[in-house]
Amino acid sequence: MKQLLSQTQWTSKDSVELYGINRWGLDYFDIADNGDVVVNANLENGESHQVSLKHISEGLQQRGLDMPIMLRLDNLVDKRIDELNLGFQKAIDELDYQGKYQGVFPIKVNQQSQVIKEIVKYGEKYDYGLEAGSKAELLIAISTLKNRKSLIICNGYKDAEFIDLGLQAIRLGFKCFFVMETPKELQLILERSEFWGVNPLLGMRLKLSTKVDGQWTNDSGDRSLFGLTTNQIINVIDDLKAVGKIDCLKLLHYHLGSQIPNIRNIRDGIREATRYYINMVDEGVKLEYIDLGGGLAVDYDGTGNGDFSRNYSVEEYCIDIIEGLKESLDRFEIPHPIVITESGRATVAPMSVLLFNIIDVNTFEPQEVKIESEDHHESITSLLETIEGIDLKNLQESYNDALYYRDQTQEAFRRGLITLRERAIGENLYLSILQKVLSLVPQLKYPSDDLQTLDYKLADIYYGNFSVFQSLPDAWAIGQIFPVIPIHRLDTKPTRQAVIADLTCDCDGKLDNFCGMGSNEKTLPLHHKEPSEEYILGVFLVGAYQETLGDLHNLFGDTNVASVRIVENGIIEYVNEIEGDSISDVLSYVEYEPQDLYKSFRSTAELAVSENRISIQERQTMLKLFKESLTGYTYFEQ
Ligand SMILES: Cc1ncc(COP(=O)(O)O)c(C=O)c1O
Repeated sequence: MKQLLSQTQWTSKDSVELYGINRWGLDYFDIADNGDVVVNANLENGESHQVSLKHISEGLQQRGLDMPIMLRLDNLVDKRIDELNLGFQKAIDELDYQGKYQGVFPIKVNQQSQVIKEIVKYGEKYDYGLEAGSKAELLIAISTLKNRKSLIICNGYKDAEFIDLGLQAIRLGFKCFFVMETPKELQLILERSEFWGVNPLLGMRLKLSTKVDGQWTNDSGDRSLFGLTTNQIINVIDDLKAVGKIDCLKLLHYHLGSQIPNIRNIRDGIREATRYYINMVDEGVKLEYIDLGGGLAVDYDGTGNGDFSRNYSVEEYCIDIIEGLKESLDRFEIPHPIVITESGRATVAPMSVLLFNIIDVNTFEPQEVKIESEDHHESITSLLETIEGIDLKNLQESYNDALYYRDQTQEAFRRGLITLRERAIGENLYLSILQKVLSLVPQLKYPSDDLQTLDYKLADIYYGNFSVFQSLPDAWAIGQIFPVIPIHRLDTKPTRQAVIADLTCDCDGKLDNFCGMGSNEKTLPLHHKEPSEEYILGVFLVGAYQETLGDLHNLFGDTNVASVRIVENGIIEYVNEIEGDSISDVLSYVEYEPQDLYKSFRSTAELAVSENRISIQERQTMLKLFKESLTGYTYFEQ
């Protein structure tokens, strides 16, 4: 069971420890002395600034953007691009590697136009490119990239149109590679290349036997969906030789899986892939590139191990890859290839923070129990006796009794033996017992599972103005942990333990898996909230996959989005504000025509006028309300 730190003088430092921000925050986030979460912006001109997220959110609200808001911090994506590129550069220099590093960003990880534009703009100095897994993504790549030295890597199944588009990119001067996911693709690529009179740039996806730990273990290994087997590789090489196009094959690709938690898997992968590289060079293939796909993990829970973390740093990742390649290739005196990675989540996860306000709180505190008569149903008498007798020695027994007699009270109610008020008395006594037991559990040396999870059963429910399904789909789908913390008031002690429910009224629409002092904490320490007070929480590291995978459950649409950048003197530049979906938008996504709905509602209202149910003025008020709702935000509006 989690214990809140016990100092009477609570400071922001205690909150840093409690919420683990220094473990998952990557030096990007911290808590200031005034209790606000701050983003650390280290500018290229050497200035460093700490800017409060509360302050940013107030600025956004003043500009008319209501909660929930997906806040994108542009400085952080730039920083991640730097860290990856400089990490590889350092490894290359230290190990005297003769090739270079040239990364690409996989568009699928965050396709939002503002994000891609920022990556392309900032990445230009590193010749950073894009990976496209579909025709739509390829269109984004060829129209956004301006630097012809950047690579475009085309993965996924490719039809003739996809290939034609890629070939035009080559004609425009881009290095656009078709990575063959299956041997069948070769014929079509050759046909289309001949048609356009363009030599294709070919890559080949390997089906490595290296298996990885974590959630995406099926992306690799013998049964992985994509990639060529050894037989298929040989066939493709022979086919290319037969048509005199073997020189087009320049790139080896593999992708072990996303969020690889264990550096050992990455080392094993590079070792196996390098063996393919060496053997294919031996076969006369003029390889120049090796593409490791994605997989560089994000430390979501700050623990340094497990599926939502990683046991290595970016630096270690870069060193191990370069070292693994160099060691093996040098033995055969094979020139060092250009190294490509398709790091998605590691590049964009830190940049986005979902901000939402708490709109209500439900606690499981007993209300004061007024017992006027001495004459109770026996189950209530037993609950009263249980509460009197609780001590450290009989905690488990008191807990068991509370459950038993509460059930008896419910049964008595069902049979009509007690009234609603008496049942309420029973519920309150039950909660009183559980709360008392909970307060004593920390003194037990070996509490049972029931007692260890009592804090979860009694946790408050904080209702947040957001949808898990729209903004944090992985929290629902795969139990992904994202750091969640209040973005203010952290210089005071949080006195409540809570789970967070979203607006969807769906029992899955909740967050009850948190990181902090450890991982997999079932409740989150939060502050007491007065109904009139604003209380804002931030969900961190949500920049990868979440925005596009999100769905319209309950017709909660896209949230408002804001991109900000911290510039000289710590000034906040509000770079972009994008209004979330209106109700009209989400209705049209599910095939309603908002104008038709309005007309249909108008005729219902007119009928009610003719039936004398409502006046004409009331009809007008209703129609105005309907119209205004159509243009309104799908979330809870103050
Ligand atoms: C081929 C390919 N490249 C890159 C990525 C991005 O992976 P990550 O976000 O783990 O870097 C993926 C995602 O699974 C992928 O399938």
